[in-house]
Amino acid sequence: MDRKEELAVGRRLLGHIDGRTTDLADDLFRNKVIAYSCRERARLERERLFRDHPIFMALGTRLARPGDYLTEDLAGLPVLLARGTDGTVRAFANICRHRGAPVAQGCGNARAFACPYHGWTYDLTGRLLGTTDKVAFAGLDLASHGLVPLPAAEKHGMIFVRPKPPRPGEVGAIDVDATLGVMAADMDALELDSYPIFSVDRITPRINWKFAIDTFLEGYHIPHLHRKTIGPYFIGNCGTFDAAGANGRMCVARTSIDAVRTLPEAERNYRPHVISVYQLFPNTIVIWQVDHIEIWRAFPHRDDPGRCDVEMTIYKPADSDRPDSYWEKNRDIAIRTVMEEDFPLGERMQVGFESGATDEVIYGRNEPSLVHFHRSIRAALGVAA
Ligand code: FES
Ligand SMILES: [Fe+2]
Repeated sequence: MDRKEELAVGRRLLGHIDGRTTDLADDLFRNKVIAYSCRERARLERERLFRDHPIFMALGTRLARPGDYLTEDLAGLPVLLARGTDGTVRAFANICRHRGAPVAQGCGNARAFACPYHGWTYDLTGRLLGTTDKVAFAGLDLASHGLVPLPAAEKHGMIFVRPKPPRPGEVGAIDVDATLGVMAADMDALELDSYPIFSVDRITPRINWKFAIDTFLEGYHIPHLHRKTIGPYFIGNCGTFDAAGANGRMCVARTSIDAVRTLPEAERNYRPHVISVYQLFPNTIVIWQVDHIEIWRAFPHRDDPGRCDVEMTIYKPADSDRPDSYWEKNRDIAIRTVMEEDFPLGERMQVGFESGATDEVIYGRNEPSLVHFHRSIRAALGVAA
């Protein structure tokens, strides 16, 4: 955020701390438990949220060099993302045009992709370079049997993909600024292309994907669930929230924020004391962690509403001379807090949801980010509850 916005958010946070208040949603919000457990709802979400919307994939620095690539299953669609020799990032369905094997696995750097099944090769633009056994495939038009392209775009240091092949005649280009809305200015100000990747962690908790996002959208639970980990460093149940279309920004204060009070407002630097949690619809959380960027993404399982794939990536500043052990410690805190405290509790909540013993959950007025997230989902799904 720019300096004016930083001061305004800082002022709001100090006001909340002094008044023991927090930004409030306009009303309580009730959500049906089936939103977390129903197969039909999960199918609708995969179709409407995970095919039609641009999905954040990674910061551009994760594919820093020509030939860098990564693969991922996006809610049931295998995707290959690669940076070409021209510097452009392209996305494809990671499905060989011969008989459908994934042509690339994991991540790495390559000049071309050779399918592991029968050895057909594709270049970084998805073009089919050649088949093995030329006699058997004589007459096959290579030009029309490249990997199926998916719309991809890179801007503000961020890569997005729409995981749906465009229909014939449809361009399907992604407008990153339209996707980010007013949050584009914040993302630009973060200078994300100056943060190289430090670590990637993946887990598959037995929770609905929305719970994996919910857990980042309120500071109400911090002094309770995290009292032994991050609790002492944050002012719990206190924060600002600003919607940006279906996206949102929540800011929470570290207890160290009191240090700014000794300075006149124009000289205050809130950056070391305020964590910004950006919610990128539908499934990404970008956290400005004062001196590094932590990004969480959650994807629904392709069939079970009670499972998801979660990825946490840490990007560290390029110009930092801190040793790797410092970033490792940050990674460890994030893992211990979320994967050992939030998600294990979430797995027990998921069991409760699937038991059918309760009908609904309630998001409080002090959880405006959560309310906004679930309202945005309902709007995108076209459902009333
Ligand atoms: S499936 Fe890829 S070469 Fe046969
Ligand atoms: Fe948490």
